[in-house]
Amino acid sequence: MKIAIVYSTKNGSTEKIVRLMGKKLPADDVSYINLCKDSDPQVADYDMIIIGGPVYFGAIQPQLKRFCEKNEKLLLNREVALFTCGLLSDQSESQFDKAYSHKLRDHSICNACFQGMVNFEKLNFFEKLMVWKVAASNIEFHTDSIGITRFVNTIKRINGVVLA
Ligand SMILES: Cc1cc2nc3c(=O)[nH]c(=O)nc-3n(C[C@H](O)[C@H](O)[C@H](O)COP(=O)(O)O)c2cc1C
Repeated sequence: MKIAIVYSTKNGSTEKIVRLMGKKLPADDVSYINLCKDSDPQVADYDMIIIGGPVYFGAIQPQLKRFCEKNEKLLLNREVALFTCGLLSDQSESQFDKAYSHKLRDHSICNACFQGMVNFEKLNFFEKLMVWKVAASNIEFHTDSIGITRFVNTIKRINGVVLA
């Protein structure tokens, strides 16, 4: 089974999430496609496409939004799983719903809102202030490994992989 993980990232925490996800997946061939580096990748050859990225100011990054819109027809003919990453757990569901079209959400075999992370070294003054103001109690410095394991296990179960 050929799997592509198509993602965006601004400060690198989603990169960590997708690498961990890829290691846990039972695929012969997992490709990592960063839309911030390759904005128009060809994904027709993949059996499964996992799509996700961080939420900034309530929305996913435009590269991710564009990829989903442009490839929607193809994606609806492939196995798809969707995720978002964010700090605001009380808004995670509404942010997720806003991120992906109704059709794509209904078609997806597995959806997840991962706990986002903050890399303060990469934030400018304004961004640091924003994070402290809006999400001080939700700030997380560790990868959401429990959430990722649950997400991958659901994908495995749906594909008939026996869990160890
Ligand atoms: C300026 C700024 C705005 C953010 N806005 C939101 C938001 O609206 N909702 C949310 O859940 N998380 C928000 N976050 C948290 C990010 O989604 C989280 O840190 C994510 O893991 C970053 O991913 P990245 O490192 O891959 O870019 C924000 C973070 C920053 C720095």
